[in-house]
Amino acid sequence: MTSFFNPASEANEIINRLFWHYSIAATIILFLVIGFTVYARIRFRATKSRRPAQFTRSRKVELSVLTISMLLVTYFGYRTVSLMSELEPRAEGQEPDIVVTGHQWWWEVEYPGEGVVTANEFHIPTGKRLLVQLNSTDVIHSFWVPKLGGKKDMIPGYTNFLWIDAKEAGEYMGVCSEFCGEQHAWMRFRVVAHEPESFEGWLSEHRQQAKIPKEGMAAEGARFFQEMTCSKCHTIRGFNESNNIGPDLTHLASREEILAGMLDNNPENLKDWLQDPYEVKPLSHMQDMILTNKELESLVAFLNELQ
Ligand code: CUA
Repeated sequence: MTSFFNPASEANEIINRLFWHYSIAATIILFLVIGFTVYARIRFRATKSRRPAQFTRSRKVELSVLTISMLLVTYFGYRTVSLMSELEPRAEGQEPDIVVTGHQWWWEVEYPGEGVVTANEFHIPTGKRLLVQLNSTDVIHSFWVPKLGGKKDMIPGYTNFLWIDAKEAGEYMGVCSEFCGEQHAWMRFRVVAHEPESFEGWLSEHRQQAKIPKEGMAAEGARFFQEMTCSKCHTIRGFNESNNIGPDLTHLASREEILAGMLDNNPENLKDWLQDPYEVKPLSHMQDMILTNKELESLVAFLNELQ
């Protein structure tokens, strides 16, 4: 499903084309070398009556090997550089469509100018090249959606840019492809591509502030969230402001997964996570709040309301 060989974007088609050119050329050279070796072994084999001709220098052989190698290196050097510039038009001075920030071990996603912030799942319109700005808050991560385009490092204190696009609506898996600590393998994300109108719908829903439940268990959960330290690290727009150490939870319930692709987003998994974060995702920066059963139930009820 996420194979690089099945491009779903223009960028990936460009990369695929180069990959196949390299592979075909390398395969032809491999077989030529094997062929010549076998031929030489048979044709010039020593027999009782004949000793193969001995020579150590041949200008003809040296020159032709050198010329062919140089031509190949020049050709592929040129192809690589020209495809790179096709793949990455200059980004300077352009406003990014999306800003993605890597954290150990999750992805913060912001739509500048839209007031939309989300995590680990982001939505894009089809048929448009999008400029993604890449940052990191801690260590080097690497942003990669195999079907949608290239791969680029996210470096603390430095801003990188990458263009991505999707030809068709659908879901595409993304991964962190630079080892970034114990939970590197659980640093995944999903890109959901929509037809442009449906994307606008998603965006306008996500511009909304959270609807905070006023009564029942969920309201109690909201109170706990505010009182406990949850509200220091996680923002719920329209409810609290934090320093965004953890994912924005404004529309948490609308996301398919939690913990950067690790678990399905359902009450059971949320409960397990809040109850014992170190057990579920060891070394993650989530605090163990040591919650009573009632606090746990009400918090989960509250989070479930955040559509
Ligand atoms: Cu982030 Cu690997």
